[in-house]
Amino acid sequence: MQIGSIGVVGAGTMGNGIAQACAVAGFPVTLTDIAQPQLDRAIKNIEGSLERLVKKEKMSDDARNTALGKITTTTDLGAIGSSDLVVEAATEHLPLKLEIFGKLDAAAKPGAIIASNTSSISITKLAAATKRADRVIGMHFFNPVPVMQLIELIRGLQTSDETYQAVEAVSKALGKTPVKVRNSPGFVVNRLLCPMINEAVFAFSEGLATAQEIDDAMRLGCNHPIGPLALCDLIGLDVQLAVMQVLFEGFKDPKYRPAPLLVEMVEAGYLGRKTGRGFHTYG
Ligand code: 3HC
Repeated sequence: MQIGSIGVVGAGTMGNGIAQACAVAGFPVTLTDIAQPQLDRAIKNIEGSLERLVKKEKMSDDARNTALGKITTTTDLGAIGSSDLVVEAATEHLPLKLEIFGKLDAAAKPGAIIASNTSSISITKLAAATKRADRVIGMHFFNPVPVMQLIELIRGLQTSDETYQAVEAVSKALGKTPVKVRNSPGFVVNRLLCPMINEAVFAFSEGLATAQEIDDAMRLGCNHPIGPLALCDLIGLDVQLAVMQVLFEGFKDPKYRPAPLLVEMVEAGYLGRKTGRGFHTYG
């Protein structure tokens, strides 16, 4: 199956990054969200991200304008009915995802593939909420999407070979490198990455070092591009907490217990870069 057009559901950090990557690769994109202000913010972010590339002479003005012209935004979920592939990038909350998958199944055209950008939820479970389980797959992008090379492709128990091959081809067309991963809580990257960040939160809350010192230690000692607490701010503390909860519940292993300080910071609304405050503060 050939994918010619892409719908993106959810215009948050990941949704707008995915929309940008798809548009830059030449796919017409329908970006939907329930809230118009979120869509307006998404377009602003995409414009800013493309502007960066133009300023660095990595993209021409024309290419930027062409990419922006490929994106249509709407609050009407029904508009994804024209897309061959729909990528769901809504909040990481199982009941919400299940509800959206039911709606997407009704709105998407027969034969369309529905992918989830979930960072940890079972693709098999999401597929079972539709009548097209063989055409459901996980397409896990990384933040910031325009920069990060990897897409984890997660096959649910029901995912067909044809679906996998179509989505693998799209991933390559986006200039990304797909890695096939079995459906399991956290897949590969978050299974390894999020417990490390969680441990950094424990270290911080126990007063081992300041947030800056913990980040400097991991940057300078392990050659990480940014420290674990700064990365948590980038990912979003709410997303980090959701992944830890899925790992904790999925494996029933106490080693995945979310750090209490992480829980409390999410309760306070300190979600990282997107709210201006996490382990660090942002202007
Ligand atoms: N759009 C376009 N380009 C961007 C960008 C964006 N949103 N953000 C950064 N860039 C580009 C910059 O233009 C710059 O390009 P250049 O090298 O050609 O000059 C390059 O990326 C580096 O950016 P900066 O110089 O501004 O800053 P840094 O050197 O600190 O890099 C970073 C920023 C790329 C985010 C780097 O810190 C990094 O790689 N961090 C780790 C990111 C990571 O681990 N992500 C995975 C998170 S896990 C996840 O997403 C899964 C989820 O499920 C939880």
